[in-house]
Amino acid sequence: MQLKTRHLLTIRDLDSSEIRDLVRRAAELKAALKGGGHQKSLAGKSVALIFDKPSTRTRVSFEVGVAQLGGKPLFMTSRDSQLGRDEPLKDTARVMSRYVDAMVVRTFGQNVVKDLAHWGSVPVINALTDRYHPCQVLSDLLTVQEHLGRLEGFTYAWLGDGNNMAHSWLEAAAALQLELRLACPPDFMPHEDIVAYAREQGAQITLTHDPREAIAGAQVVNTDVWASMGQEDQAGERRRAFEGFTLDAGLLSLADPAAIVLHCLPAHRGEEISEEVLEGPQSVVWDQAENRLHMQKAIMEALLAPQVS
Ligand code: CP
Ligand code: NVA
Repeated sequence: MQLKTRHLLTIRDLDSSEIRDLVRRAAELKAALKGGGHQKSLAGKSVALIFDKPSTRTRVSFEVGVAQLGGKPLFMTSRDSQLGRDEPLKDTARVMSRYVDAMVVRTFGQNVVKDLAHWGSVPVINALTDRYHPCQVLSDLLTVQEHLGRLEGFTYAWLGDGNNMAHSWLEAAAALQLELRLACPPDFMPHEDIVAYAREQGAQITLTHDPREAIAGAQVVNTDVWASMGQEDQAGERRRAFEGFTLDAGLLSLADPAAIVLHCLPAHRGEEISEEVLEGPQSVVWDQAENRLHMQKAIMEALLAPQVS
């Protein structure tokens, strides 16, 4: 599978057929792994993981994914590299490109992944920025496909913060022409430019401050933490602002009875989601977390070994 983009910095880098191909390939890799194994398509390749924020799922799924494909993962942070001593990004990008075959980057500003992609000469994969979380939403699409059999024709609901996850869902909706309803408190709406982009592309986007309006009849229900990484000092004020947005059994009862519940995790039980819903029969969050592994592998193959898939 050959992607037109050299980097995955945002879902906008992909068109609808590329997204579908990634979902298909991730499902194939998942089946092959469970069936005993698959091709070592990254043999001889090294992938640097440069993380400026904490991570469990993304880090481990990329590290394990690279290893399962026969490559070598290298984990580093700004703190233990010269980045933390102000070595310019453009220098880091060029030096790293002489050693590794790709950089997987989790950081604050989207400009960091853009600059690394601009100055480096190897693919850069966005492993979460303040603005986007593309790898997560791609694996969430795999989860929807697995549980509901297709991606189109559903109402997708987003409840909570108009954050990086919401932005990547907006871009997925744009690419796939999805109906997406976002309910966020007034001061926590998604960026207007991303909403405008999704609408221009033909996605059916509804914005509301009422979670009941967003969830009514929805088949895919999605939420995320109220205070993202880097916003911990706003947690108290956000808890007040997001009152009424907890995805609990009462709210979920308004969705389609066959709806699935997604949460990228980590979850704060009793805040954005109740224990009952997170652990309930409609929650698919553990499959969703597992699918990170299979999707990271599909993304890396597409960028680093396109001849394989
Ligand atoms: N969902 C997700 O990205 O989790 P981590 O922060 O643990 O990587
Ligand atoms: N919005 C969350 C996602 C965590 C995977 C954050 O940025 O912290």
